Amino acid sequence: MIPLPAPNGIHARFAVLAPDVFRLRVGRENGPATPPSGAVVDRPAPEVSATVRRSRTGIRISTASGEFHWNGRTCAWELMDRRGLVAFRSRGGSPGFDHEGRPGFALELADREALFGMGEGTGILDRRGTVREFWNIDVLGHAPAIHPALSSLYVAIPFALSLRDGRAAGLFWDNPGRQRWDLGATDPRLWDLRAGTGIIDLFLILGPTVESVVRGYSRLTGTMPMPPEWALGYHQSRYSYETQARVEAVAREFRRRDLPCDALYLDIHHMDGYRVFTVGKGFPDLPAMTRRLARNGIRTVAIVDPGVKDDPRFPVLRRGRRRKAFVEAPGGTGDHVGRVWPGASRFPDFLDPAVRTWWGDEQRALLDQGIDGIWNDMNEPADFDRPDKTLPPEARHHTGDGVHLHAAVHNLYGQAMAQASRDGLLRHRPGQRPFVVTRAGYAGIQRHAIVWTGDTSSHWEHLREAVPMLLNLSLSGVPFCGGDVGGFLGNASAELFVRWLQFAAFTPFLRNRSTLGARDQEPWADGPEVEAVARETLRLRYQLIPYLYGLVRQAADTGEPVMRPLRWHHANDPVAVACNTQFLVGRDLLVAPVLEPGCPSRSVYLPNDVWYEFWTGERRVGGRPVLADTPLDRIPIYVRAGGLLPLAPVRNSTREPDGHTVALHLWQGHEGSLNRYEADGE
Ligand code: GLC
Repeated sequence: MIPLPAPNGIHARFAVLAPDVFRLRVGRENGPATPPSGAVVDRPAPEVSATVRRSRTGIRISTASGEFHWNGRTCAWELMDRRGLVAFRSRGGSPGFDHEGRPGFALELADREALFGMGEGTGILDRRGTVREFWNIDVLGHAPAIHPALSSLYVAIPFALSLRDGRAAGLFWDNPGRQRWDLGATDPRLWDLRAGTGIIDLFLILGPTVESVVRGYSRLTGTMPMPPEWALGYHQSRYSYETQARVEAVAREFRRRDLPCDALYLDIHHMDGYRVFTVGKGFPDLPAMTRRLARNGIRTVAIVDPGVKDDPRFPVLRRGRRRKAFVEAPGGTGDHVGRVWPGASRFPDFLDPAVRTWWGDEQRALLDQGIDGIWNDMNEPADFDRPDKTLPPEARHHTGDGVHLHAAVHNLYGQAMAQASRDGLLRHRPGQRPFVVTRAGYAGIQRHAIVWTGDTSSHWEHLREAVPMLLNLSLSGVPFCGGDVGGFLGNASAELFVRWLQFAAFTPFLRNRSTLGARDQEPWADGPEVEAVARETLRLRYQLIPYLYGLVRQAADTGEPVMRPLRWHHANDPVAVACNTQFLVGRDLLVAPVLEPGCPSRSVYLPNDVWYEFWTGERRVGGRPVLADTPLDRIPIYVRAGGLLPLAPVRNSTREPDGHTVALHLWQGHEGSLNRYEADGE
């Protein structure tokens, strides 16, 4: 790294990682050690040519794509693109540390600058004007009443994509402690960034396109690995299918009714007293159950929470204690004991590589009984008893690189758990692509797991919010994501359920889920009319799997998400930038879900291009809104002129190999291309 001149006590360095990717690291001399990055993948840095010019006041570093200026007296800095247009410019004497040693800095916001990404969060697509906290938290029901300043959820990703005058740039602050970003909420011209611990470690990416920024960020933090093909099927879950008999009955209903389903989930009631990796009396013969399900083309996914029941006779606890595998209490006075579903529990220290290996190996207990995938929940981690709902800030982690306090590594906990799960699956099922779903994560989570957006409520508001939430997650490097169809808490009306399913049929992860005590929410629960619509919706989803699989391959190669804001492909269309209620699936499909009850029609903005209405083939010239009819069995979908959709034949509900036939649907236009990907599915 290139040393930067700096005032006394400050230690600043700069690196050119690629002509358009830079790193700025500012710490205090003799400051505390920083934890290892769980976000950035270690890659040998290529030789990048850069010109360094020093002056009396500072330093200028330029590459083929941009130039960085640094003032050694004030620590003011700016990054400009090749044309001299500012991407980021600091304001005031920043960056620096406050009297308690907490790092922070501020950036200027340009007139029409919009800010996207930043992981999971409620609200609209453009996050400017809000305050974001980056601190993973278990918020039941995403409900503001429960958590008034709902600025953080389960997945904190301190990466922002800024869009100024049509040019995109990215900023990632790699610091897994608490961060707070005021994105022009207090002063509309100021973006203020603060962290509770650690140092300033910024990765700056020059666009100029949204696509190039997301690709650059994905090169830094890694792209998702290919999932098994069944990850794209329909999944069914509830808290809980409490017995083996119930799970088998649900599986039979799917088949009897000719409804596609690729996976059923076991929530916490499958365990013996919520002891992780055990199976309780309700499941007298789990291996026989998973075999029968598998014969019907249904996989079984089991929930795995971090809390290990503090029961001295419990073998997992005993083995963990022997290995000193648990997070230590403040001051190192034994293990921290918190309370989650099993009651008093200890928390594996996933930041320690040896603990990750141990945990991955413990998963064998489930794999040996035919469990196909792992679902990590409660891994923020949640702790019911504490007012802050998580581990004490002074709890101690052994990271394999010294001891770090929980406050400094909090957002890495869930991610490290997902890593343990995935790596364990890889070791014990070599040759099969692992399937892991997680609730918590940090930058880079896409390398380890699929992200689901946690405990929503069955409200129209939460359906509406799902569109920008999944788009912003997608822009934050997490292409494989989805939320609970129907909403988790409470009862969805039949109409809300249908609309949610129609929307989710176009999201990568498609899982229906509801909570304890809620009424049944399987596709047949609302009677034959809803069941018929659900069947048609799911068949369309299954027809689209070849298209989706190609997009997932692209995401795995480059980080380009499956779900994209309209802006992605329509950079010069001013209306497309702000659209919160529509999205693209790849380049060729535009989806306008119905997000309000009782709507006979909705307005759809078609970006500047030519489009075909999917159902009727009607040709539409974009650049203006159209009114689409929305009877209960219709969701407005449009295909770009030139679009190529590989559609699987409509088949019955078991997905037996059918020779990989696809029908290629060509939508007349000037040009198109298709990324077609096939594999054996595993
Ligand atoms: C927590 C989770 C929820 C899960 C339940 C039982 O409430 O938030 O998703 O279903 O635990 O495991």
